[in-house]
Amino acid sequence: MDWGMRNRMGRMFRAPSGNSVMLAVDHGYFMGPTRKLENIRATVAPLLPHADVVGLTRGVLRACVPPESTTPILLRVSGGVTVLQEDLSDEAITTSMHDAARLNVSAVALSVFVGAPHEHQSLVNLSKLVDDGEDAGIPVMAITAVGKELEKRDARYLALACRVSAEIGAHIVKTYYCDGFSKVVEGCPVPIVVAGGPKLDSDRAVLELAHGAVAAGARGLDMGRNIWQSEHPVPMLKALRAIVHDKATVRDGLDILEGEKARGARPLAAASPA
Ligand code: R5P
Repeated sequence: MDWGMRNRMGRMFRAPSGNSVMLAVDHGYFMGPTRKLENIRATVAPLLPHADVVGLTRGVLRACVPPESTTPILLRVSGGVTVLQEDLSDEAITTSMHDAARLNVSAVALSVFVGAPHEHQSLVNLSKLVDDGEDAGIPVMAITAVGKELEKRDARYLALACRVSAEIGAHIVKTYYCDGFSKVVEGCPVPIVVAGGPKLDSDRAVLELAHGAVAAGARGLDMGRNIWQSEHPVPMLKALRAIVHDKATVRDGLDILEGEKARGARPLAAASPA
């Protein structure tokens, strides 16, 4: 791996743990103004200092993130279809590597849709992006997307999708947590981070997901809704950081969350825009 690529990976997967808590706020690229992400500038501003990386599109980056920000950027570069379509797999590359380099991003991300109608297209998108990323020294994250078929998220399917992504050259893979997750990690020779998926029922469930993923070998999280749809997103991020970076238990995480709430961390709705 060349110096630039290694430097970018090191900024995202931070020493001493070598893990990462990435904040995903790219949902609008196909979902529009999702709940609690309607005013994305107001949502992101208070969270940015607490995330190792922020994942978003170039439009939101240019419009909503101050260029002085030091949080590494994971740039979503695939899209072209919205939730109004039944088949979400018909994606293309929507942002060039040249623009990604101009934006000084730490990595680019695209979705791959294994087993979906546009599987081939999405995997070829990945291969081209990896070629461009290798040229530019910019790591590529493959996101094993399932579109509307959330029930696809089992170890057999995810292990296949992650391994195929790594074989094509992805430097990082983002996938879902599942029963038997260690098999997914075992079969994937590059770092895996885990998405949160739709909002879970309790704080404990979110922390259990994070703890289970890291215990099974994930290198961290790339999580969205279970952070910014939480009533207390900053405390939630702090609790997740303790689990991902400091080997905290779920109980430790809950204590951090409760402690932060008691100290009066403002709910997101009360946070002021940047
Ligand atoms: C889809 O919009 C993106 O890949 C998200 O970044 C990913 O699903 C992570 O967000 P969440 O934790 O909300 O699933």
